[in-house]
Amino acid sequence: MRYTIFFLIFLPNILASIDEEWQKFKIYYKKTYSSQADEQEHYENFKENLNEIELHNRLFEKGQVSYRKGITKFADLTDDEFVAKYRFDKRPPKIYLDEPGYESSKNASDRFDWREKGAVSKVKNQDTCGACWIFASVGALEGLYFRKTNKSIVLSEQNLIDCISNHTCKGGWPETVFQYIYSGKGINTEDDYPRTPSPGQCKFQKLKNVPLTIKDVGFVKNDEEALKKALVKKGPIVLCLYAGEKWKLYESGVWYERECSDIPNHAVLLVGYGSENGHDYWLIKNSHSEDWGENGYIKIARNKHRNYCSITKFAIYVE
Ligand SMILES: *[C@@H]1O[C@H](CO)[C@@H](O)[C@H](O)[C@H]1NC(C)=O
Ligand SMILES: *[C@@H]1O[C@H](CO)[C@@H](O)[C@H](O)[C@H]1NC(C)=O
Ligand SMILES: *[C@@H]1O[C@H](CO)[C@@H](O)[C@H](O)[C@H]1NC(C)=O
Repeated sequence: MRYTIFFLIFLPNILASIDEEWQKFKIYYKKTYSSQADEQEHYENFKENLNEIELHNRLFEKGQVSYRKGITKFADLTDDEFVAKYRFDKRPPKIYLDEPGYESSKNASDRFDWREKGAVSKVKNQDTCGACWIFASVGALEGLYFRKTNKSIVLSEQNLIDCISNHTCKGGWPETVFQYIYSGKGINTEDDYPRTPSPGQCKFQKLKNVPLTIKDVGFVKNDEEALKKALVKKGPIVLCLYAGEKWKLYESGVWYERECSDIPNHAVLLVGYGSENGHDYWLIKNSHSEDWGENGYIKIARNKHRNYCSITKFAIYVE
């Protein structure tokens, strides 16, 4: 479920309607603030974001941009706050200019989606724990399990958050997770090892270990065609890409900004690809629960620039 601010434009009393939107936002996302000053500050951010959403979506209606912005749960944050809170370190930006000979295929029947086969679990929520690398890797392991058994499974990120080290919420690399599983340390399902608000002691139950053997882990060739093939052949793939402040208000459509970095700061799970309204995209599962983006997913421009936002450079498969 989602609400829009579409009617805002038609209301005569804009200020009153912003107030109404603010009240709705706070209730919908269960927001609380430490003081009146704190709330006032976030209300000001919200107003600015509303303005940005409205201007951007006018361009979307005219077909000048390929994705829609909306009041996401991050709409009360400034860009800097969002980046700091969700631990996306800022990277030097790269301006992507048009590349001759690098044309979008715009072929609507050229699509693939691992969700339709049952290889992808529900969208999870890392919250402010910087363990995106664990969430993305567990997604790949769920895919591996599916490909080996034909059975869907929901594995426990908390298991790895608690058991890999005492600082898993401060960032890491997917290889650490695959190494951990490869060495036979084991993993429980989410039912057996549920999510907790903060990291704790390792409570892995050996008797309930989910048998998973890893034969091979590797990088996909830094190329979009190779990534497509690897996705279909080897299952959902971990991408270490750049997720910047511009993800804050993403609601739907094919995300594209001319400015992005090609140095990664976030890990996600690639589960498919396709084309929508003439824009080719990669279908990506994020770990900020279902109430962000397209039910927890983001579509990112494909066939537009080489290694756009570092999508192809650190793509890791597991077999
Ligand atoms: C579009 O994609 C489909 C599926 O990959 C493929 O079979 C077809 O040949 C493509 N068509 C064009 C015109 O590229
Ligand atoms: C999985 O299902 C497919 C199609 O139903 C079947 O061809 C394949 O043998 C099954 N694989 C396993 C490991 O059960
Ligand atoms: C976390 O720290 C405690 C106390 O130093 C230690 O006993 C425990 O083994 C550590 N856990 C992990 C997963 O490293």
